[in-house]
Parts: sequence; structure tokens; C-alpha cells
Amino acid sequence: MNTVDYLRISLIDRCNFRCQYCMPEGAELNYILRQQMLTDEELLTLIKEVFIPVGFNRFRLTGGEPLLRPSVVDIVRAIAAIDHTQDLSMTTNGFLLAGMAKSLYDAGLRRINISLDSLDADTFNQIIGNRGRSQWQKVWDGILAAYQVGFDPLKLNVVVIPGVNDSEILDLAALTIDKRWHVRFIEFMPIGNDRLFNEQGWVSSAQLRDRIAGKFGLTESQVRGNGPADVFQIPGAQGTLGFISQMSECFCDRCNRMRLSADGWLRPCLLNESNQIDLKTALRSGVSVEELRSHVSELLALKPEINYKARVSGVTGAYSRTMSQIGG
Ligand code: GTP
Ligand code: 5AD
Ligand code: SF4
Repeated sequence: MNTVDYLRISLIDRCNFRCQYCMPEGAELNYILRQQMLTDEELLTLIKEVFIPVGFNRFRLTGGEPLLRPSVVDIVRAIAAIDHTQDLSMTTNGFLLAGMAKSLYDAGLRRINISLDSLDADTFNQIIGNRGRSQWQKVWDGILAAYQVGFDPLKLNVVVIPGVNDSEILDLAALTIDKRWHVRFIEFMPIGNDRLFNEQGWVSSAQLRDRIAGKFGLTESQVRGNGPADVFQIPGAQGTLGFISQMSECFCDRCNRMRLSADGWLRPCLLNESNQIDLKTALRSGVSVEELRSHVSELLALKPEINYKARVSGVTGAYSRTMSQIGG
């Protein structure tokens, strides 16, 4: 069995975009109230006193949009300074990154994954819920800033939606030729927008690989990353291509992660909603860190049973929370 040592921490459930595949405009989202969110101090106590002692040493900050949390740079600095932190990364929509890339890097963040679903400003604007045509440029400037500051690896996440952005696959793949960027294509799952899923369907990684191989050639890379992506490369390219295939494959056997929501629920599996524990309420009601450690250890022992162990269901309506609520 895989070692589970990687914690994805959602810093906030809100987002300034309304990506159609994730939290479309009009969707009913019961936002977490400020007083329900873990404070910075509570979060750091949990990391230092609970998660690290039970064996977690890799942390990813996610959201919603993590850069919307005002104290995000301080949180990065504090986690990076912990002796046992072996890896600290972030998944962001990139909107605020141009102005923050340097402070994040200086605070100790080294790995960053940025969503970039289109190279066309109009398509991008349509995907993010009409936040304005200028948003694409802001995200692009954020990506360039992160690259210049030295984030490595720098990964770009593309959720592929037939009829929306699948015509851009080759252009997106070509970004890896001259730059050490890692573009990852993610199969669209029926979490967040069932209507769009029913209307547009999804496209498999195997189909995408065929198209890319037909144009550029494609070799399988020996290096596997931290996560679920299968890694390939255009021959001679500086960067790589990753394929995250949760619809067409099951990668639960190699699952190495748990998730902590912004309101302090520890969720052992993205898709299985059972066995979550409310660490915030326990902490606030005076449960000792020793006791919390034993709860987390028990959950770790149960993890293989809890794991979803199936391909993501193509049936809509199966999942009650969006990725922004779970901490994508
Ligand atoms: P690294 O490889 O460490 O860079 O991370 P990652 O690929 O796990 O991180 P990222 O936040 O960029 O995740 C990309 C996407 O992969 C997510 O938004 C999900 O769509 C998918 N994903 C990540 N973790 C899981 C998981 O545990 N289960 C499933 N089914 N999908 C996941
Ligand atoms: N299908 C696939 N990936 C999704 N994400 C959010 N919703 C979905 C979905 N329905 C992932 C994407 C995005 C991140 C924030 O969450 O990777 O980049
Ligand atoms: Fe892990 Fe659950 Fe995701 Fe499978 S679905 S990879 S078990 S978190």
C-alpha cells in the first residue's frame, strides 16, 4: 500500500472565478463563515502537532482560490519553516499571482500548479464565468511571473471540455516545447456542473494522447510525479505532458493523500464522503493534540478501505460537494 503522507489543505472555499466545470454562476454554494474557518494558528497547530507527528510531510495549499486568504504568504512562510516539511506546493487560478509570485517564493513556496483552460481570451472568459476578457492576460502574467521568479516545476492544469476548449489541445501541448512547463490535461468529472457534463460529455486522456502523438510524437516519461498524472513528453521538449484520468482509470491504489477543508474537516478521500472527522470542533472543545493524533492515525489505517477504488462515476448527481468545497 502507498504511504499516505501528503495533505491537501484548503485555505478558503471562495473563488473569484466561476469556472463552469467547478462552481458555475447560480450554483448554490453554502460558504463557510469566517468564524467556522480554521484560524492560521489552529491550522499551524494541526500541522505541527498532529499531521507531522503522524507522518505527513508534504503539503499543498488549495482552495477555492488560496491566494484570496489574506494571510496566505504568512501561512506559506510558517509551513516552509517547519523542519519536517519536505514539499510545499500550491494550486491556484493564477489571477493574483503576478503581484504575489515573488513574495510566495521568498516565503518558501517552490512548486505551483496554475489552471489555464484556454489560450484564447474569449474562451477563457466564457469558462471562468464572464469575469471579463482581460482576465486571461492577468493569469498569463501570473504564469510568466512565477516562471521568472523560479518556480520549478511549474504546472498548468487544463480541464478538457468537448466543444469548449478541446480544439486547443495541440496549442496547449506545444507550450511545453520551449519552456520547462508541465501541462496536465484533466478529464472532466461530473462534480460541480452536472448540466454541462450531460450536455458536453468528456474526452479521455487516451484520445488526447492519440491526437498529440499524431502531431508531435509522444514518449512516456520515466518520471512519475507526486500525484495521479501519467507523464509523457513531446520528443525534445523541455517540459512534460501529464494526463489525469480519473474518468477512464482508477488510481486509488496509489493514493497518497488526504484533504483538510477550510473549516477543519479531514476528508480521507476526494470522492468517498464517509469517515470525515471534524478536527476544528475537537480542537476548539479542548480535545488534546495527542488524542487528535490517534484519531488521525485511525483514519490513516482505514484509508485503504475508504478509498473510492473505482473510476469516477459518469453518472451525474453522485457527488454532493464541488471541488472548491472539498479543496480540489
Ligand atoms: P502534484 O502532482 O503534486 O503536482 O499534484 P496534483 O496533480 O495532485 O495536484 P493538482 O492540485 O494540480 O490536481 C490536479 C487535479 O487532479 C485535481 O484538480 C483533480 O482534478 C485531480 N486530482 C487530484 N487529486 C485527486 C484525487 O485524489 N482523486 C481524484 N479522483 N482526482 C484527483
Ligand atoms: N472535473 C475535473 N477537474 C475539476 N476541477 C474542479 N472541478 C473539476 C471537474 N468537474 C479541478 C481542476 C481545477 C481545480 C481547481 O479543480 O483541476 O484546475
Ligand atoms: Fe484517493 Fe479517493 Fe482520489 Fe481515489 S478518489 S485517488 S482514493 S482521494
